[in-house]
Amino acid sequence: MAFERLREDIATVRGKDPAARSALEVALCYPGVHALVVHRFANALSRRGFPVLARWVSHLGRWLTGIEIHPGATIGRRVFIDHGMGVVIGETAQIGDDCTIYQGVTLGGTSLEQGKRHPTLEAGVVVGAGAKVLGPFVVGEGARIGSNSVVVKAVPAGATAVGVPARVIVEEADQRREARAARMGFSAYAVTQGANDPLSTALHRLIDHVAEQDRQIEELRATLARMGQAVGEVGEPLDAGQLNRMVD
Ligand SMILES: CC(C)(COP(=O)(O)OP(=O)(O)OC[C@H]1O[C@@H](n2cnc3c(N)ncnc32)[C@H](O)[C@@H]1OP(=O)(O)O)[C@@H](O)C(=O)NCCC(=O)NCCS
Repeated sequence: MAFERLREDIATVRGKDPAARSALEVALCYPGVHALVVHRFANALSRRGFPVLARWVSHLGRWLTGIEIHPGATIGRRVFIDHGMGVVIGETAQIGDDCTIYQGVTLGGTSLEQGKRHPTLEAGVVVGAGAKVLGPFVVGEGARIGSNSVVVKAVPAGATAVGVPARVIVEEADQRREARAARMGFSAYAVTQGANDPLSTALHRLIDHVAEQDRQIEELRATLARMGQAVGEVGEPLDAGQLNRMVD
């Protein structure tokens, strides 16, 4: 069982790191693999009621690899910790299958309360070098965290979050909104920067809605005019592009 997991860890590294040349090289020279093996042992000791011994084993693992994983952390299958030095994974952190974590990453907490205080990474998340993910929220499946970002709130599945504090830069919803905005004749400028701010999102939606209503009223006026119906003048048209730039 332990050897099967080790074999799987080695295969994972060979699949994800073009620099890995042989299974022997991975087994001997990849601290991420060593840290996972030590963690499985420490985690088993912790679950069997030997918390101090578990911490001591985890401490030895940190000393050997530069990767600190609390024995209580839950780590899935085929996780790849690349380079590893300076990685800290807190007690209540959960890491799903197939995640990749680079050197200098912290999966930490911001409160001293007992209970869940570290993040949960769903399957396939990539956390770039030096990123700090702080708090008991979920980073959704397949999300990517930019190197050196500081993530303090949930990241939707499939999204990319970068910066300090991290903001979501690529979301399908944004792309759909951009396409719709382009059809309406303005650019949805700045919406991605404000995607994490509910007030900004609400204002962008209202502006979009009014712009779309204006467009439909214009179409109705044109149709009525073609039918010979006199239609009164309307006020200054809304400049949705300019308003969107003013928000956020
Ligand atoms: C976040 C990341 C996954 C984005 O990759 P991507 O989807 O190819 O995105 P792009 O490179 O096209 O960048 C998109 C935007 O985000 C910005 N950006 C990318 N990474 C960033 C970061 N870490 N911090 C701040 N901004 C970042 C880019 O400047 C760009 O901004 P712009 O649209 O205003 O020009 C990637 O940049 C990253 O950080 N990967 C981690 C890699 C790593 O840690 N490697 C360690 C190897 S040892």
